[in-house]
Amino acid sequence: MTRVYVHDVAVRDGFQIEPAFVPTDVKIALIDELSATGLAKIEATAFVSPKAVPNLRDAEAVMRGIRRVPSVIYSALVPNAKGAERAVACEVDEINLMVSASETHNRANVNRTTEQSLSGFRDVMSIVHGTGVAMNGSISTTFGCPFEGSIPETRVFHCVERYLKLGMDGITLADTTGMAHPKQVRELTRAVLARFPTAEITLHFHNTRGMGLANVLAGLEAGVVRYDGSLGGLGGCPFAPGATGNICTEDLVHMLEAMGFHTGVELDKLLVAARRLPDIVGHDLPGQIAKAGKITDLHDAGVPKTPIS
Ligand code: COA
Ligand code: ZN
Repeated sequence: MTRVYVHDVAVRDGFQIEPAFVPTDVKIALIDELSATGLAKIEATAFVSPKAVPNLRDAEAVMRGIRRVPSVIYSALVPNAKGAERAVACEVDEINLMVSASETHNRANVNRTTEQSLSGFRDVMSIVHGTGVAMNGSISTTFGCPFEGSIPETRVFHCVERYLKLGMDGITLADTTGMAHPKQVRELTRAVLARFPTAEITLHFHNTRGMGLANVLAGLEAGVVRYDGSLGGLGGCPFAPGATGNICTEDLVHMLEAMGFHTGVELDKLLVAARRLPDIVGHDLPGQIAKAGKITDLHDAGVPKTPIS
């Protein structure tokens, strides 16, 4: 049975774009609840400028307040050296760096050219060196940019190559605004793996245009076994117009398990957390299984068990 590693990013990618600040103790309680579900990785926060993303201004308090489960990798998004210093001080398990394949989105997101971001990561590597913190490099707008449209695959190859030269342990190809379609995912992911066969790839999809889980199937066909999702399907980048939710973690686990993949995630526990989430954020969420139930949840048909003659 193929193992698929499921990561949840709701507390970072989800809460960062919510209209209201989610209180620190609520974030901590949710991460602790997610930690008990069997997820492989939780992106707990981002060490970014509190002016740029006020909703995550409590990154230190969140990282220090959670109960760490040894089997879970606690990751945090970091844009620059200052963020890396803060993340290392909180003893995160992994730093997730970010650069956009699109020049325009990189400027909107972190106020730098992609080259400035990538060269700045050398400083990050010297801060992290010897600390034991793992490094992941995310490439936003890999499959398309809301400002520039389609992104030449050479831009994506360039970012992967630079990340690998810096010494990344993993690479995430991110579809920041849900522009990817399955054929493109299969072809681009295969091309990246053909060029960089040792790269440990994660795919990060948003369901903005309803293609999220179809893109996971395309990723599986290309051989990728690591996926980001967001509880309830929360999510979106504040610096990309029209950005909406990530693929929904519990819907992803439900699909994978139904197909015979092994995720190690206890879906029922995840669903308990997902069904509480609308109360936390104060609105309905796009996740389907929390509403419809699992395909194994059978209903009473309301007819007698023995046929009436
Ligand atoms: N954590 C906290 N504060 C930070 C920081 C970090 N990682 N990086 C910079 N800052 C602070 C600086 O200390 C400075 O503070 P001051 O005004 O009090 O002196 C201020 O932010 C500006 O610093 P500067 O280096 O000029 O950054 P900038 O204004 O060009 O912004 C980023 C660049 C990367 C810090 C900012 O754009 C950012 O945090 N973006 C996050 C984007 C994001 O999370 N997007 C969502 C994911 S898709
Ligand atoms: Zn995202």
